[in-house]
Amino acid sequence: TMIDPHQMVFNAIRSVPDWPKPGITFRDITPVLQDPRTFRVLLDIFVYRYMRERLDLIAGIDARGFIVGSVLAYELKLGFVPVRKKGKLPFQTLAEEYSLEYGNASVEMHTDAVRPGQRVLLVDDLIATGGTMLAAAKLLQRLGANVVEAAAIIDLPELGGSKLLRENGASVFTVCE
Ligand code: PRP
Ligand code: ADE
Ligand code: MG
Repeated sequence: TMIDPHQMVFNAIRSVPDWPKPGITFRDITPVLQDPRTFRVLLDIFVYRYMRERLDLIAGIDARGFIVGSVLAYELKLGFVPVRKKGKLPFQTLAEEYSLEYGNASVEMHTDAVRPGQRVLLVDDLIATGGTMLAAAKLLQRLGANVVEAAAIIDLPELGGSKLLRENGASVFTVCE
């Protein structure tokens, strides 16, 4: 019998209670990546969605966004640029701060990672509060990029991140909630 590809991905996501701290349910994508059929089904969902988009570049967010983002870039015959956690990129960078539950964090990109007007797909594994994705989108926009969509495997809608991103004018695509 045929299994819905989105359902197949959903079924492979592991929920780990009280990690990394009490009250948090961690949505772990490692079983999705580990099973070759599920990994392929996941990538095929993204490939079919974006194969007819006129994209110039994929931007993946450090670290889990690198896994799907780089495979997708290769498959769509596009370049890949990393959005990294602070202090990891060696060349000239631009940074965008965002707030976490406690304090601040920031993401960085190389200033020559995109050229003005390039059509960029932003990729990560999961949208929770949306802080990470929103900071990455702002960074890309400051570099002159046209952020075509913010794509992730998982949306946690009760945390409001996808809503926040849409309120800020972004188009959002996620494989499952
Ligand atoms: C996780 C996840 C997303 C982000 C989502 O990354 O991979 O990038 O948090 O949360 P938000 O929507 O509230 O910003 P994390 O910073 O834990 O690091 P990792 O990807 O390096 O594991
Ligand atoms: N990043 C932020 N919240 C998360 C969660 N609940 N599971 C996995 N990654 C996350
Ligand atoms: Mg992450």
